[in-house]
Amino acid sequence: MPRLAILVCRKYPEAHPLDRTLIKELRARNPDLEVVWAPWDDVSCDWKSFDMVLIKAPWDYQERVAEFWPWWERATSQTRFFNEPQVINWNIHKGYINELAAHGVPVIPTRVLPKGCHLARAPATDLAGILGDGVVAALGHDLVLKPAVSASGMATVRVSSPEQWADPRTAAWMGDLLGQRDMLVQPYVAGIAQQGEWAMFFIDGRFAHAGLKLPRQQSDGAAVPHLPSPAESAAGRVVDLEMHVTEHPEPGMVAAAERILAQAARIAARLPPVGRASLPLSAAPTEGDGTVFPFLYARVDLVKNPRTGPFAAIEAPFLLGELEVFEPLLLLTEAPATVGLLDQAIGRRLRLLAALPN
Ligand SMILES: Nc1ncnc2c1ncn2[C@@H]1O[C@H](COP(=O)(O)OP(=O)(O)O)[C@@H](O)[C@H]1O
Ligand SMILES: [Mg+2]
Repeated sequence: MPRLAILVCRKYPEAHPLDRTLIKELRARNPDLEVVWAPWDDVSCDWKSFDMVLIKAPWDYQERVAEFWPWWERATSQTRFFNEPQVINWNIHKGYINELAAHGVPVIPTRVLPKGCHLARAPATDLAGILGDGVVAALGHDLVLKPAVSASGMATVRVSSPEQWADPRTAAWMGDLLGQRDMLVQPYVAGIAQQGEWAMFFIDGRFAHAGLKLPRQQSDGAAVPHLPSPAESAAGRVVDLEMHVTEHPEPGMVAAAERILAQAARIAARLPPVGRASLPLSAAPTEGDGTVFPFLYARVDLVKNPRTGPFAAIEAPFLLGELEVFEPLLLLTEAPATVGLLDQAIGRRLRLLAALPN
């Protein structure tokens, strides 16, 4: 009997409640398929024993990169992951957003600061000095700083007020992180806190459903700033967001997300394969040609273009905030039809994999 693992972690052994239905549905639809949750950090797990691993919720990798990477390298040589390892490796560093921008995708303007770059600018005791030439001139004084490899808003902060810019903890926070990681700088998109961000979900390149992500309300009704400052982040505060399916994405959003995904697929289809030989990728697979779309699942996060300040020169109404093709929450419990699409996409891959030489 073919075996499918759904990748999770011991911290979230059955994924998010809004995706938990996946295993029950896949089992019910495929009586001849064994489907199990598999935590990446379960050392007793025999990855070779799976025909395919669907990546779902390895949601502590960003905090455990030193353990995750060696595991990932080993496991990808032992079984087939979806999305494919080269696609994950490309997507895990948020610098991909500038590659998409170079191919004409409208994105939130983004500067990537490489790990250690601040050392060349010593003594960098204020944030503008650490960011280096031209960043403030191009992106303004209302900035988001975040690690290039991150998830769930880890170490994602906003620096806006003169007090925050002058606070020595701001420069210290950025210097500390740059000592360990590449960092991203973006202008703050104010609309996210009020209108939210839209998430467009695709299965095998077909639009499936949309979600709306908003900062969670405080139970006492108190207004809490959307993103923490560096000082608050150092004290442990993380952005707190909630996402649900929405039937009403703004007109034009689905088409905008489709164009972005098509461009991303052309890039992903050309990435050199990594890990155990898997299926050939094509940005436009045709029935029976043995290729598959590079993204079994994909989430395109869009924000409305504020059209002022650093955004004024951008024409497009919607900007890419994130293309998540590694470990997106899919909201499957709220989108039952998407489970059917996912089941078909998995079935197609299992059939093609079964025909590969071992
Ligand atoms: N440029 C930005 N402007 C406003 N809010 C942002 C910006 N970048 C990130 N955020 C907020 O931080 C959250 C997490 O950042 P994101 O880039 O989506 O990374 P991840 O979801 O991988 O942690 C977003 O959902 C959004 O609420
Ligand atoms: Mg995000």
